[in-house]
Amino acid sequence: MSLDLFSRPRRNRKNPVIRALVRETDITPDRLVMPCFVLDGKGREEPIVSMPGCFRRSIDRLVEAAREWDSLGVRTLNLYPVIPPEQKDAKASLADAPDGLFQRAVASLKEALPHVMLATDVALDPYTDHGHDGLLAPDGRILNDETVEVLCRQALAQARAGADIIAPSDMMDGRVRAIREALDEEGFTEVSILAYSAKYASGFYGPFRDALSSAPKSGGKKTYQMDPANRREARREALLDDAEGADMLMIKPALPYLDVLAEIRQITDLPLCAYHVSGEYAMLKAASQNGWLDYERCLMESLVSIRRAGADFIFTYGATDAARLLG
Ligand code: PBG
Repeated sequence: MSLDLFSRPRRNRKNPVIRALVRETDITPDRLVMPCFVLDGKGREEPIVSMPGCFRRSIDRLVEAAREWDSLGVRTLNLYPVIPPEQKDAKASLADAPDGLFQRAVASLKEALPHVMLATDVALDPYTDHGHDGLLAPDGRILNDETVEVLCRQALAQARAGADIIAPSDMMDGRVRAIREALDEEGFTEVSILAYSAKYASGFYGPFRDALSSAPKSGGKKTYQMDPANRREARREALLDDAEGADMLMIKPALPYLDVLAEIRQITDLPLCAYHVSGEYAMLKAASQNGWLDYERCLMESLVSIRRAGADFIFTYGATDAARLLG
């Protein structure tokens, strides 16, 4: 340690060149993943009220937007489908439809922009009328192993459509291993799995559930998503997903769980990401619309904090805003 009474840490902050020279953490657009919402139809672009600046877009509009994001350097997208209520049912029947909206969106994006990486969400909530990520028993329990079978079919449908990264966000036990086996059996050995390892039962998902109209109709998600009070349990989940064959791990949400992120960084050699979720984004937007916070400055500070805590890359609705700021 070079600490002595003569140390003057401010010398390393004296001008922008020195500050840049000694900066410990960088952000570049290639570390950012843009989550996006796809709608059926043509020429549609609906603002999401609780996420100002975010839209639900039809496939054609999404392809246009993705082209622009590509030019900004944001080249990984994470996709969610907006399914109309009349097409949802208890069994998530449309989750693996080969010509379903989601699969068509993946195929169109891949055709237009083959080098853009597509991460696809695996979970049943966009497709279930009850809003849960899994299948429900009559008594309201979530049926783990039955759900995993559907998740495997969903993942396969996405891989066949051209997904590069399968991202299970459902939190069922054993799904990473099962999906890996299903993918390999069909020859999709190059398709990656990004496991939502430590996904907490969080209030910060509120705006996202508005965007998809996917809030659970009864009960919460606490029997599958993690208790915010638990850190050791996150280690267990991360080690399991690592052992089951995940290629990358995620901690979600981001800012309230930086301690978890930093800890998981110590115990796995897999790439690690954090999801700066809808509520974290909405807070920044709402405060800045009131003139209480500077959105751009606080967004960049949030993202650098997430990187500093140990994330290699970040899912954020501010990805393209940040890329523009990084110029
Ligand atoms: C559900 C899912 C959720 C999010 C991503 N996938 C919400 C939930 O678990 O209810 C939240 C993302 C966000 O808030 O930005 N499988």
